[in-house]
Amino acid sequence: MGQNRTAMKARKSQKSSKDRTNGKPVSASRSEMAEVVLPAQTNPLGKLLGGHVMHLVDIAAAMAAHRHSNSYVVTASVDYIDFRNSVSLGEIVMLKSQVNRVFHTSMEVGVEVYSENVLTGERKHTTSAYVTFVAIDEKTHRPKPVRPLILESPEEKRRYEEAAERRKTRLALRYGT
Ligand SMILES: CC(C)(COP(=O)(O)OP(=O)(O)OC[C@H]1O[C@@H](n2cnc3c(N)ncnc32)[C@H](O)[C@@H]1OP(=O)(O)O)[C@@H](O)C(=O)NCCC(=O)NCCS
Repeated sequence: MGQNRTAMKARKSQKSSKDRTNGKPVSASRSEMAEVVLPAQTNPLGKLLGGHVMHLVDIAAAMAAHRHSNSYVVTASVDYIDFRNSVSLGEIVMLKSQVNRVFHTSMEVGVEVYSENVLTGERKHTTSAYVTFVAIDEKTHRPKPVRPLILESPEEKRRYEEAAERRKTRLALRYGT
């Protein structure tokens, strides 16, 4: 019984160190979600509420972060968000998210939001946002390391490079350094 437990522990610890060292490609955690804009989510002009867009951005970004890290995550920060085009009642709001860069326990996820007119099929870019998540250990509830990201395309490399600058700004705002 004691030997079994020791073997199980060893397998578990091998698995967790493998998780940390085994990278995953960006494509493995890229995520999409979509919903139809209903009256309860709109303002008196029939436009999707900004707060609802922010909620969807957080959820879509968390999907990519969960999938990449295979762990619990918390939102550490959301960068500046602007709304370039509104999304109207009856349109489809679509979100695409992908992990741009893994730091140590944190990762930056980029989210793009589009509106889609169901009658014409026209799509408009509505919002872009960057959300940082921290992976949380199930037992200690403390930040834990995230496996590396494998970059496969020039676009992924560009996003990875740009994420470093954004992190500097974020951490300066948080820690005042
Ligand atoms: C985010 C949080 C886990 C950071 O915890 P902490 O004790 O400050 O931990 P650390 O200083 O070790 O930082 C952990 C990671 O968070 C990053 N981080 C902290 N604040 C950040 C910010 N504002 N923006 C981006 N990254 C940030 C650190 O850089 C570090 O990442 P790294 O390991 O990749 O370098 C903690 O502040 C927290 O739990 N906040 C509340 C989260 C929450 O409730 N979100 C909403 C609901 S999900």
